[in-house]
Amino acid sequence: MTGRSQKAKKKSAAANALWGGRFDAAPGAVMEEINASIDFDKKMFAQDIAGSKAHCAMLMAQSIISAEDGNAILAGLDTILGEMESGGFAFDRALEDIHMNVEARLAELVGDGAGRLHTARSRNDQVATDLKIWVRDALDGLDGAAKDLQSALIDKAESHAATVMPGFTHLQTAQPVTLGHHLLAYVEMLGRDRGRMADCRRRLNECPLGAAALAGTAFPIDRDATASALGFDAPAANSLDAVSDRDFVVEFLCLGAILAVHMSRLAEEIVLWCSEPFAFAHLSDAFSTGSSIMPQKRNPDAAELVRAKCGRVIGALTGLLVVLKGLPLAYGKDLQEDKEPVFQVAETLALGFAALTGMIADIAFDAERMKNAAGRGHSTATDLADWLVRVLGMPFRRAHHVTGALVRRADEKSCALNELDLADMQAEEPAITDDVFGVLGVDNSVNSRTSFGGTAPANVVRAVAEARRRFL
Ligand code: ARG
Repeated sequence: MTGRSQKAKKKSAAANALWGGRFDAAPGAVMEEINASIDFDKKMFAQDIAGSKAHCAMLMAQSIISAEDGNAILAGLDTILGEMESGGFAFDRALEDIHMNVEARLAELVGDGAGRLHTARSRNDQVATDLKIWVRDALDGLDGAAKDLQSALIDKAESHAATVMPGFTHLQTAQPVTLGHHLLAYVEMLGRDRGRMADCRRRLNECPLGAAALAGTAFPIDRDATASALGFDAPAANSLDAVSDRDFVVEFLCLGAILAVHMSRLAEEIVLWCSEPFAFAHLSDAFSTGSSIMPQKRNPDAAELVRAKCGRVIGALTGLLVVLKGLPLAYGKDLQEDKEPVFQVAETLALGFAALTGMIADIAFDAERMKNAAGRGHSTATDLADWLVRVLGMPFRRAHHVTGALVRRADEKSCALNELDLADMQAEEPAITDDVFGVLGVDNSVNSRTSFGGTAPANVVRAVAEARRRFL
């Protein structure tokens, strides 16, 4: 490393320069291999430096360190931030983690006074603080990405407010629905996901800094000052809890898992819609890949991967819960295992959002084919039963029975329900009139479903406006 003092270099060859006072020898190679977290926790450099600056400013304000030392430390931290941002910082595995890499470099830049920064603090409260800020930043980024996906879905829903498609239950044609209504269902899911992110953010926003190693400190620190400088609502109330709590990580992974499940459902629908038997939709070349053997293929790989990546997100949640289970208070090195899953999940979710938002903007639907499919499978049988109830005053159970007989009749004649003639209808129920044909087409069916939250095109137009107001 550049510029480190000869003395420090000599010491670190034998033992860690920062905690090696009672050690004669450096850790063994395997010890360093298993212990070091710098390869992944360097992702938190900006949060770590922000935490150190807030701590330093507070130490100065409380006259725990001199203004001279404090200002030199603050300037040194800014220099280090610049080096890390530009990629010019040489991270050293022997220094274990981001905290000690920063502190060692600070000693090079500022000299002995740098050692005063760690007064009244420990890496235990430091790492908990860094990670909270990192998760908070990640939540803000993901919330924006969720909103972008909602926006793309709402735009698509608007242009397909009256596009009819088959609605499925059991993946069997059930009743006609509008594509706009279907797409808005995902907007609701994402709205709940964003609510969970907001909850997680609100609950995590108590600052661990100043809990020190586990028991607090004898120095006259001002925890309110550091908490507010770092954007927290308050200092965490219990020092033992502050250094050992990883609920916020579990919540992040948990809301991430629910979100990834939602993403996988939308991705799966894209895969189905783009398949040859469905052929409801088409992704452009930008979101399709070819097969190396079958020249005709257009594969929706991006959708398949979004569907699949859900696995690693759920795995991360399970993994961390197992790490935390039975861990006694307060800090244990086990807690270092919290970071990789968080970083990986945040990255996976961001990529999933980008891919889905791109695909939703890109996807082109075949309205005619969807409408034809919507009419198959006697999808308006419920409309016929409802007509018998509404117009003839039949109890629904009896109407269901009569409609079932008419469905069978249509099957026998290999025709659709609305292709039966009136005589066929009256053979099952003499009171049926010509009026019944007014409810049998797919357009009539969707147009009639105007109950709150229903699929009618008029509802979709209103729901699009409402969704823009609620979410964008
Ligand atoms: N790299 C450590 C972690 O991620 C930092 C805290 C280490 N604390 C300690 N007492 N060894 O958890």
